[in-house]
Amino acid sequence: MKTWPYPRVAAHRGGGTLAPENTLAGLRTGARFGHTMVEFDAKLSADNVAFLLHDDTVDRTSNGHGAAARLRYEELARLDAGSWRDAQFAGERMPTLAQVAACCGELKLAANVEIKPCEGRDGETGRLVAQETARLWANAPLPGPLLSSFSYAALEAARESTPQLPRGMLYERVPEDWQAQTAALGCVSLHASHRHLDAALVARIKAAGLFILVYTVNDLARARELVRWGVDTICTDRIDLIGPHALDS
Ligand code: G3P
Ligand code: MG
Repeated sequence: MKTWPYPRVAAHRGGGTLAPENTLAGLRTGARFGHTMVEFDAKLSADNVAFLLHDDTVDRTSNGHGAAARLRYEELARLDAGSWRDAQFAGERMPTLAQVAACCGELKLAANVEIKPCEGRDGETGRLVAQETARLWANAPLPGPLLSSFSYAALEAARESTPQLPRGMLYERVPEDWQAQTAALGCVSLHASHRHLDAALVARIKAAGLFILVYTVNDLARARELVRWGVDTICTDRIDLIGPHALDS
């Protein structure tokens, strides 16, 4: 990837904090604010359906309890994943990746599919989410989906099964060996928390030929500073404060 085809701003978990995370209502909220790219977290149910959820358990973001890896998708789909955020979102579900792909198509949203394996399921989650992503977005307009993960093993499996999809290694704090890791995974981008970045590190990452996406930036002045340093895309929860064109030069 020689040029970065993605917009400057991506809506974190669909609609940031203005909607229940990782739901279709979240994607619709992101689009309603004019955003053209969304990030969301994908994992596998017990019966290997790729669906959206951030945590290992369903407790925080639904009215259910327990480990997502132990629930079949039909059980997950019965849970209310909207009311915890606000009563107006009652009845929102944890969508399948297929439903998300259809919604992104309808709303013309570019996707950063963050592969978020449940504990011990890194390889199979990387492989199956990547294969599903390639199949579901096969006829989507450009730019196509961007895979990312904190899990090296998941991205390695994604690369083996679906080498044509672009990958970004995701870090909270960029480690010493970032260059070796991203090269071994054939990454186009490095994704990192903005908290531990400085201008010199951004310059080194860019000089290595990688694009940079940072999360989760909720302050406009900070977002502008990161863009000045060379960051390519800002992922934000404050999709209202950092609008789709807030960082245009
Ligand atoms: O992909 C960027 C960001 O979403 C990573 O952190 O915990 O919000 O998934 P998290
Ligand atoms: Mg995420």
